[in-house]
Amino acid sequence: MTRKHEGATLIERARPVAVHEAKELQHYGTVARLPIALDTAVCAASVENLNQLLADTMTLRDLYKKHHWQVSGPTFYQLHLLFDKHFNEQSELVDAIAERIQSLGGVSIAMSHDVAEMTLIPRPPRGRDEVPVQISRLLHAHEVVLKEARAMARQAAEAGDDGTNDLLVSEVIRTNERQVWFVGEHLVDTPLTAHER
Ligand SMILES: [Fe+2]
Repeated sequence: MTRKHEGATLIERARPVAVHEAKELQHYGTVARLPIALDTAVCAASVENLNQLLADTMTLRDLYKKHHWQVSGPTFYQLHLLFDKHFNEQSELVDAIAERIQSLGGVSIAMSHDVAEMTLIPRPPRGRDEVPVQISRLLHAHEVVLKEARAMARQAAEAGDDGTNDLLVSEVIRTNERQVWFVGEHLVDTPLTAHER
């Protein structure tokens, strides 16, 4: 091979192959067996549950960002910061749930279209809500997540999927319970100054 020819071949090899056929490596809803000493049926059940929880957690995460942007009133600054803190904590849960799905051999949902189709949390309006309405929406969304997460945790424990049970109890349930406390206390009707009742 001449030097010129060799150079051309090298350049061809270094060129990114940018166009590929849209062929899936693994279909959604299937489980690839991994050597983690768990039955495929157990993994499949956990994956299905976790994808529902993922859709609802992604929705709750985005509800926090919506309210972070759209909040108003005398408690603007504190709620603006609190809502963003909870958004970041929910984002960490989203990543932990999705990666648990992948480590069980499943395929996690990822895109907003799929989230919108699957979530059990009611769709909020595009417009702005007053603070008590924002908080009521958040509390309802948390309750949806907590109810399903507890049922899924029990199912995972009974099936022997301790890793999923631990994620649900130690991270999802505890984080959501704490956030409910922080947000819910804003709806207690207490005066800013003492007066006779
Ligand atoms: Fe921000």
